[in-house]
This record gives sequence, structure tokens and C-alpha cells, in this order.
Amino acid sequence: YILGIDLGTSSLKGVVFDDKANFIGSSSASYDVYNPKKGYSEQDPNDWIKAFEKVVDNLNNSLNIKDNLVALSFSGQMHSLVLLDKNSIPLRKAILWNDVRNSKQCDYIMNEFSQDLLCMTNNIALEGFTLPKILWVKENEPKIYENVNKILLPKDYLRYYLTGKFNMDYSDASGTLLLDLKKHKWSDEILDKFEINKECLPDLVNSTDLIGSIREDLKKKYGFKNDVKVFAGAADNSASEIGSGVIGKENSMLLSIGTSGVILYPEKNVHNLYKGKLHFFNSINKNLYYSMGVTLAAGQSLSWFKNNFAKDESFGKLTENIDKISPGSDGLLFTPYLNGERSPYFDSKIRASFIGLDISHTKLHLVRSILEGITFSLKDNFEIINNSLDSKIDNIISTGGGSKNKDWLQIQADIFNKNILTIDIEEGPGLGAAMIAALGMGYYKNLVECSKAFIKYNNLIKPNLENVKIYEKLFKEYRKIYTNTKDICK
Ligand code: XUL
Repeated sequence: YILGIDLGTSSLKGVVFDDKANFIGSSSASYDVYNPKKGYSEQDPNDWIKAFEKVVDNLNNSLNIKDNLVALSFSGQMHSLVLLDKNSIPLRKAILWNDVRNSKQCDYIMNEFSQDLLCMTNNIALEGFTLPKILWVKENEPKIYENVNKILLPKDYLRYYLTGKFNMDYSDASGTLLLDLKKHKWSDEILDKFEINKECLPDLVNSTDLIGSIREDLKKKYGFKNDVKVFAGAADNSASEIGSGVIGKENSMLLSIGTSGVILYPEKNVHNLYKGKLHFFNSINKNLYYSMGVTLAAGQSLSWFKNNFAKDESFGKLTENIDKISPGSDGLLFTPYLNGERSPYFDSKIRASFIGLDISHTKLHLVRSILEGITFSLKDNFEIINNSLDSKIDNIISTGGGSKNKDWLQIQADIFNKNILTIDIEEGPGLGAAMIAALGMGYYKNLVECSKAFIKYNNLIKPNLENVKIYEKLFKEYRKIYTNTKDICK
């Protein structure tokens, strides 16, 4: 067996496959997020270890993995800062990717260094990324900062616990704002500029690199019969890229709608055509990249509506019959900026709106316009890629909660004017992590073969050309809403 571990923001999930890519089973364990002040979001690194051990226990009980496990790898929440002292003990709780206490440090980086940063990392500074979190600790908790011996991200800490080795893979390193994307090394310029000690950063590795085996004492504790090889693993978005098969599938893009929404496009070279309007990260090895756009409140917009106006209905019930409302929701447009917006606007003050509410509109109109608005917002990101490509994207692989509703899938096909594919057994980033372990073990010659074995697509959903025309017109109107509401939301 191989085990893919997804260390997420709310839980840790273990996904088990056999060496022929058959899905065996999964288990997860959740942990707390601490919000001691407004904008703060923290987690206790020990909780990740406890959750891992609980998942191993469950999988031992339900699937007896202890007799069969030979390899594991990881997918992890990106950017979240873990600081260790010289005894490798966490110095404070981890500061998570969705913690926004560090706007001041972001402004400082952008005022002092934005062009250099863009040139070296291909990204702009955002509260979510690691560098401004490090600067916050340096400025606000100098006693802690003084004792920092290692800077890691969450899954690197769990990997350290299991193997005793300090590493970070390129996919996660590129989300720290400390990696020189072209030179494939920690950026001396950035480290010097912000006075960060290079010794604190771990060695860089590719995601499929073998880091070592599970420590003897832990092997005994978990009852593992075999030597269990530990492969480096990847950032969760990179693992989703692998777990969706989009990489190596020509002319395809990934669309993932969960709480937030993501569009992800595999890139072969470093270029700065998007000028920081999209994230640009390393993929599972240092020569592969992807660009990514994020809508913060995607599925969250629908949950917000349900929680406030339809508490007792299931999502299925809430969205039943939206196909009875015509495309464009009879003149109602929604922008999903309930929490501000990440890309392409990077505006934390903008807020959502319904435009064109009419006395004849029903609850169902609002629901349909929310689904349309979330999809428009992702298209707003997609257009940046689409407009800079020579080739054409033909297929969009739709994953997450947004791929579970057939009417929403049709809306996606019609708004993007692309074929939509869904995945048969969808295990998200955990599947990507298991595929990384399988690749590391050498079960497959390359990623394309590995994807063929692990991923089966369902039938294609084709755009309806009449609807495409309607949505093309509406998208132009949709885009005017940001410009026309941004001053009201200051
Ligand atoms: C990506 C990002 C999130 C986290 C969630 O930039 O901040 O998608 O990776 O785990």
C-alpha cells in the first residue's frame, strides 16, 4: 500500500491505494484553528501529529495498513509558518495562510521591493504568503525570533517528525516568497534585504525525492511491518494539480470549487506575462510550474446564503430546479466578494453585491445568480491566462463541491465556453500525494502514465452555444461591477 497524507486547514486526511492504483480507503481527523484576535489564524503543530497518529490508527484498524504500507507522501496547506528552536520544538503556534495580521509588513515589502520581488519570485506580497509572516514575528515577537533555528511549512514539520530530516520541496518553497524561481535556490537578495538567516531554511528537494524512512521508534509504535519510505510531497494546490491529471493533459486547465475557488494552469516556463495578477508557483519538480487564480468566497458564498436564508435545506434541495431559471437569472448579477477578493484584484476592502434585483425575483434566482457569479469570478482570472496564450484551452477539469451539481457544471461549460470534465473517484490533494509516493517508488515511468493509472474521467459536458452568447454579454457587465463598486467599499 501507499499512503497520501493531506495536511489541510481543518483536518488531516490519509488516502490509501495499492501498488496498482486501486483505491483502498481513507480516514481523516480534524483539529482546531485558533483565532485569538481579529484576523489571526493559528494552529498547534502538535495537533497535526496527533491527527496523523489518529489517522494511522484508524487505517490500521479498518484496513490493516500496518502489514502492507511501503511508502507515503504529503500534500500540505501552503504558506503557513512553523518556527522551531534549536531542539526542533515549535516556538509558537503556526501562523496560517489565512491569517491577515501582517498587512503592514506586506505594504513595507511592496513599497520597498515590489519589482525585485516580482522579478525573482514571480509573485507579489500578500498577507497569506510566508515572508510577511516572518517579518511580523521579527517585529512583534523579537524574543521568539531570536531563537528561531528552522523555518518550515506544516507538512515539512510532520515529515521532520517522521524522518528527523529538514527539507522543503520547491512547490511549497515557491509560496514563501523566499525562492528564486529561475535559479531554483533560496534568494540571497531577498534574504539579505529582509535580514533572514539562510541557515534557518531547510534544503530544497523535488516532491518525488526520497527523504528517508519512518524512524525506527515510530515504525514500532505504529506496528508497520515494512520499511516505510517517505517522499517529500507537495503544496496542496500542486498536489491537486497532480491528482486531477491536468498536468500532461494538453490544452487543459483545472477548476476547483471548495470554500474558495481556484483555477490552475500548468506552465512549462517561467514568464511574467501575468505581471503578478495570478500566483505563479513551482509544481512537483523545480522545472515545472503552474499559475493560479483564487476566488476567496466561492463555495463559501453559497454556504453564506444557505446559512442565513435556507438553514434547514440541504445544498441539493437549495439548488434543485435552478435549471428552471434562465441563464443570467433574469437580469440578476452577483459578485462573490464577501471577504474581499484575492486575484485578480487583490482588494481586501471590496465587498459582494447583487445587482439588478427585481420584484419578480425569487429565492431560486438568487441561488442561480450566486452560482453564476462565482463562475464569472473564476473566469475573470481565467481571462488573464487565456489572453496571453498562443494555444487554446479546450478542456476544464472541474473538481471539488462545484463539480457535484450537474446544473452548475453546465453553467461552468457555458460561462467558460469550454468542455468540462469531472473525475470518477475524486480524492483531491490526498490522491496527488499518493501519486507522488507511487512516482517516487518508481511504479510508473512518468507522470502521464501515473495519471492514466490513477485518474478516470467521466463524460464530457459540452457548452450550449445559445447560453454561451448570453453569458459572453453578461460577463462584460459583470466585470464593470468591480470598478463601479470599489470606491463605495473603502
Ligand atoms: C494558496 C493558498 C491556499 C492554501 C490552502 O495560495 O493560500 O490555497 O494552500 O491550503
